[in-house]
Amino acid sequence: MLYDAERRDLSITVAGDAMITRRMRAFQEPGFLKLVDVLKGSDVSMANLEMLFHDYENTWQWSGATYTRSDPRNLEELKWMGIDAVTTANNHSFDFSEGGFLTTLDHCREVDLPHAGGGRNIDEARSPAYVDSPRGRVAIMSATSTFSETSRAGPGRPDFRGKPGVNALRHDINHHVERDVFEALQKAREELGYQSHDDALHSFGFRGIEEEGHNDSELEFLENKFTLGEEFSVKTSVNREDMDGIGKWIRGAQKQSDWLVYGAHCHESGAAGEFHGPCRLDPPEFLVEFAHWTIDQGCALFAGHGPHFLRGIEIYKNRPIFYSLGNFIFQNESVLWLPDEAYRRFKLGYDQTPGDYLDTRSGGGNRAFAADPVFWQSVVATCNYAGGTLREVVLHPIDMGFGRPIGQRGRPVLAEGPIAQQTLRWLQDVSKPFGTEINIEDDVGYIRL
Ligand SMILES: [Fe+2]
Repeated sequence: MLYDAERRDLSITVAGDAMITRRMRAFQEPGFLKLVDVLKGSDVSMANLEMLFHDYENTWQWSGATYTRSDPRNLEELKWMGIDAVTTANNHSFDFSEGGFLTTLDHCREVDLPHAGGGRNIDEARSPAYVDSPRGRVAIMSATSTFSETSRAGPGRPDFRGKPGVNALRHDINHHVERDVFEALQKAREELGYQSHDDALHSFGFRGIEEEGHNDSELEFLENKFTLGEEFSVKTSVNREDMDGIGKWIRGAQKQSDWLVYGAHCHESGAAGEFHGPCRLDPPEFLVEFAHWTIDQGCALFAGHGPHFLRGIEIYKNRPIFYSLGNFIFQNESVLWLPDEAYRRFKLGYDQTPGDYLDTRSGGGNRAFAADPVFWQSVVATCNYAGGTLREVVLHPIDMGFGRPIGQRGRPVLAEGPIAQQTLRWLQDVSKPFGTEINIEDDVGYIRL
């Protein structure tokens, strides 16, 4: 055998959201250094870069929460930890406008950190980052289903340049409602003037050419789709146009690499797509559809993330699907500056600093992320392949310091004892609906094939 890659043996470690804002190599806890060994010991380790790296050269644009910014030098800290590649398509990509995103990608290139999921046009955003590992060439691609419309990359044409942004995975949401509600919605649409407004947009040509709908069984109202049905239900499905464009790049990458990996950022949960409601454990229907499809197209692994906690693992056609890897580094409370808009949301003024804002947002540590341990306990997962076949997934639980003060929490250390057991048992429970069996041995989880 001339090349090691011919054996088709590989280990890939996948981690969730890396919201890194602090130096890493300063710390010496044995559990932290062991985690670094896990990441460095794999042929390829990757994480979702849910952070922008810039010096506030651009103004803020859209953020539902933290306006992310890290010192560009912290990319070297991620590399020091053993991260070989990052995915960049997520809901924070345009926190600091197009400029903040492109600056981040430039910094990744400067430190030689392969990145996938964003670019100067849709094809760059969909194209893979290639990682040359000792045992094969790995193509990593990524998309996000949670995004602002301004951040969605677009195609160019011979006489017009493309639009920079993320590889957005749009999805359709269709609400099926019973007849009395359907008729009430029809009436409301008409009486409130939305029907005539829509008719006017059509006659002006502002809506372009749209597919003919079935007026007696379908309607759009306040940017939502409703269909007359036998019972109430919500159906979500992946946008076909996005899937076709993504499929083109998966096909091409297959011809230029030994291994394909797809990453997807998805905050949406459950049937109705709610972020943090009671259905938060279930991946939405469209994400399951998309994950299966990427494996069908030849990907060896699907790495999902978004809701900042662990969702289930499915072994589909002998390949792993992580519906959410949760957090990996959760340092979203160390940003240096925040825009006026953020302060106003909490009725804070010019007398307050970022520390006051962050403390107020978390209710002094008593609400939201700060108050729920699920956001601070996760895993990094090492997938071992031999002869091209998945043999084992090793789940290393990590502890990000739930309940510690802002100055400490957010950095992962390999978990031990009760936290390790609690995290792995959670993962056992949420993976059960997919028929996945996780064995816990000491403080590590194993899925053996
Ligand atoms: Fe996110």
